Amino acid sequence: MRTHVILAVSLAALSVAGPASAAGDAAAGKKKALMCTACHGANGIATLPEAPNLAGQNPIYMIKALRDYKSGERKNAQMTVVAGTLSDQDIEDLSAYFASFKIVVETPK
Ligand code: HEC
Repeated sequence: MRTHVILAVSLAALSVAGPASAAGDAAAGKKKALMCTACHGANGIATLPEAPNLAGQNPIYMIKALRDYKSGERKNAQMTVVAGTLSDQDIEDLSAYFASFKIVVETPK
């Protein structure tokens, strides 16, 4: 019985944090993303071999990743420096911007 209650509560929390209600502003994020292009590419496809693609990234995942770099939970020489300059609003705007990319995927034959 108790697990049902916990599941319902966590599902409700998930839908609140879902992309549809994300507080980020993609247009503001686009301007802030200029500083990301050197490594993550102007089109969100990384130009630096050790950097991941950001185009179409799930905003819930991306917000967490940036917060983790900022807090030191996740460490990387380059991203720790970058994330340290971002406010919570910057993180939400950037995540909304990269989530708004239209991506087309072709699975290998
Ligand atoms: C100097 C190069 C560089 C710049 C500039 C840079 N990044 Fe990164 N970024 C990286 C590298 C390298 C990684 C992989 C780090 C790791 O292994 O954890 C990374 C990882 C990330 C991740 C984690 C992605 C994942 O799949 O886990 C996010 C999110 C991210 N960067 C966002 C940004 C944003 C937003 C900006 C601009 C505000 C930015 N980065 C600027 C090099 C850079």
